[in-house]
Amino acid sequence: MSTAHASLVGRVALVTGASSGIGHATALALARQGADLVVTARRAERLAALCQQISTLGCRALAVVGDAAEEATAQQAVGLALSSLGRLDILINNAGIGDYKPFVETSAAEYDALLNTNLRSGFLFTRHAVPSMIQQGSGTVIFVSSVAGLQGAAGEAVYSATKFAQVGLAQSLDAELRKHNIKVSVVCPGGVKSEFALGHGRTQEFIDNSRMMEPSEVAGSVVYVCTQPPNVRIPQLIVRHMG
Ligand SMILES: NC(=O)c1ccc[n+]([C@@H]2O[C@H](COP(=O)([O-])OP(=O)(O)OC[C@H]3O[C@@H](n4cnc5c(N)ncnc54)[C@H](OP(=O)(O)O)[C@@H]3O)[C@@H](O)[C@H]2O)c1
Repeated sequence: MSTAHASLVGRVALVTGASSGIGHATALALARQGADLVVTARRAERLAALCQQISTLGCRALAVVGDAAEEATAQQAVGLALSSLGRLDILINNAGIGDYKPFVETSAAEYDALLNTNLRSGFLFTRHAVPSMIQQGSGTVIFVSSVAGLQGAAGEAVYSATKFAQVGLAQSLDAELRKHNIKVSVVCPGGVKSEFALGHGRTQEFIDNSRMMEPSEVAGSVVYVCTQPPNVRIPQLIVRHMG
């Protein structure tokens, strides 16, 4: 009988936005399942500390510092996984920003930043990761979208548009890449206690006292999607707290 939670020993995962929040927790959770990691974000010291933590779990970890919306970062990160860790099995497109504000106060520059960080990044990392997955005949790609990618809300128009776009990208890739044995999923959390959650009228105290989820709880859902039996895929997973 196959188990739902296979081990990831021998697998290599790449996590974007790994310097904090969901990405950081997901990298650690994947390492606890035995995966070797390439982690990427802009804050070098945080990535160095994360790699150190992953190595104490007995897994290999390499960092690539850079903007996820730059093609060179994606090329470097995918290239490092293949050249130094030998393969790439799992890509977690997690890097993202939120900039909630009234639509009429949103500038074109803010629009570009949201689209580039939340959507272009996922396009670039997936575009460079998938050829090796096609070649090896397996792979898992996960987009960390949001409940804002399923339902629009006041004050979140452009953010929500980027998150809907991730869902469309993931659904189309799921249809296109399944024949190569590549699973493409979208995970849609709502309300997570990360740096992202601060601001917009929310204080640290509000967040600490709220029912919002811990990043590690969302990471558990991401790992669940990554560890299904070979013939099972989870195209979409909505993850909500009990508040
Ligand atoms: N928190 C929530 O309530 C919530 C709910 C639903 C969905 N999400 C989604 O979850 C994902 C992760 O968010 P989080 O809550 O974990 O927030 P977070 O703690 O702020 O983490 C965001 C991560 O993205 C990275 N990042 C941001 N801009 C980047 C850029 N231009 N280039 C490279 N890396 C960049 C950050 O690293 P550096 O700053 O070091 O570059 C950081 O590691 C996002 O896609 C977000 O939309 C969050």
